Amino acid sequence: MKGLILSGGHGTRLRPLTYSQQKQLIPVANKPILFYGIEDLIGAGIHDIGIIVGPNREQVREAVTSVTWDARIEFIEQDAPRGLAHAVKIAEPFLKDDPFVMYLGDNLLKSGSADFIRDFSESKAAASLLLTEVKDPTQYGVALVDEQKKVIVRLVEKPKVPPSNLSIVGIYGLTPVIFEAIDHIEPSWRGELEITDALHWLIQNGYEVRYRMVTGWWKDTGRTEDILEANRLILDTLKPGNQGRIENSTVEGRVAIGTNTMIRDGSVVKGPAIIGDDCVITGGSIGPYTSIGHHVTITRTEIEDSIVMEGTRISDGEKIAESLIGKEVTIEKNGRIAGARRYILGDSSQVRL
Ligand code: TTP
Repeated sequence: MKGLILSGGHGTRLRPLTYSQQKQLIPVANKPILFYGIEDLIGAGIHDIGIIVGPNREQVREAVTSVTWDARIEFIEQDAPRGLAHAVKIAEPFLKDDPFVMYLGDNLLKSGSADFIRDFSESKAAASLLLTEVKDPTQYGVALVDEQKKVIVRLVEKPKVPPSNLSIVGIYGLTPVIFEAIDHIEPSWRGELEITDALHWLIQNGYEVRYRMVTGWWKDTGRTEDILEANRLILDTLKPGNQGRIENSTVEGRVAIGTNTMIRDGSVVKGPAIIGDDCVITGGSIGPYTSIGHHVTITRTEIEDSIVMEGTRISDGEKIAESLIGKEVTIEKNGRIAGARRYILGDSSQVRL
C-alpha cells in the first residue's frame, strides 16, 4: 500500500497567509499540518509516500526533507491545481499497480487512519471512503449509503439538495481502477477533475465503493477558524514540558516551553499552550489555546486562542485573541502619533478592532 498526500492548491480562503506560505505548512501546535498526515500514514504502516506539490513546491520540499521520516518520500509536481482527480492521475507513474491511500494534506484526524486503512486493505473494494456526519452537507462531497449500511450508492459534490448528511472526509482508499475512472470524467463547472465524479463512475460501473465512519474529531483546515479549532484540539492532547527558564512568572496547566525560551517579569502562561524555542515573553499573558512559534518576542501583551508564527515581535499589543499571525510580523505601539493606529497590511489582510 502506498500513500499519496496532496500538498498543492492555492489555499485562497487562507489569504494573506497563503500568498507566502503553502497552506499545509501552517503550524498547528508548532508543527506543520502536513506533518500530522505523514505521521498518520507512517503510523498506519505506509512507508512509500508520494507528495503532490504545487504553487510553493520548494517550500514543501524543504520542510519535508528537513525531517527524517521512516518512509521513502517522492515529490510529484502538479503544474496547477486542476483537481484532486488530476493529482491522482499525474501520480500514476509513482503509484503504478498498487492500492493507495490519498490523504488531503490539510486534513487532521484525531484517531488517525490506521483502522480505516486496515479495513480497506483487507477488503476487495475498488475504493473506500471515510465519512462523517455534518450539519450543512451542501458545502461538501456527500455520500448516500445502501440500506445495509455497507456500500456507497451515490456521491455528489456540494449538492443543492443533499441526499444525506454524510460528508466525505479527505482520506480515500483507492485502487488502480481509479485511473480508468478518471479517464472517463470531464472537468467540472469549476474547471477541476473531481475525485467525487471518478468515484461516482466506479459506482455506476458496478465497482464496490465501501465506507467507514470517522471516530473522534476530523478537521479540514481550509479556513482561519478551522485552523484555530485544530490548534485547540491538538493542544488539548499536548505533552507538557519545560526546557526554558521561568523567572518571576506563573505557568499553569498543560504547557510546553521550548529550549532557550525565557518567561519573565510577571508573565502568566495558561495552558493548553505551546511556546517554541528561543522566545522571550516579558510581562505577557499567553493562553489558553495558544501556540507561539520559535524566535518570538512578546512584551506586555495578552494573547489567547491564537497562533503566532516564528520570528514575530509583539509589544504593547493590548489583548489579542482568535488570531492567526504569520512569520516575522511586527506589532508595536505607534510612537509618532499617540492614540493613532498605523497599518501596513498585505493584500487580503483582515483586521478586527
Ligand atoms: P481545497 O481545499 O479544495 O483547495 P485549495 O487548497 O486550493 O483551497 P481554497 O479552496 O481555499 O483555494 O483542496 C483540498 C486539498 O487538496 C488541499 O490540501 C490542497 C490539495 N489540492 C492539490 O494538491 N491539488 C489540487 O489540484 C487541488 C484542487 C487541491
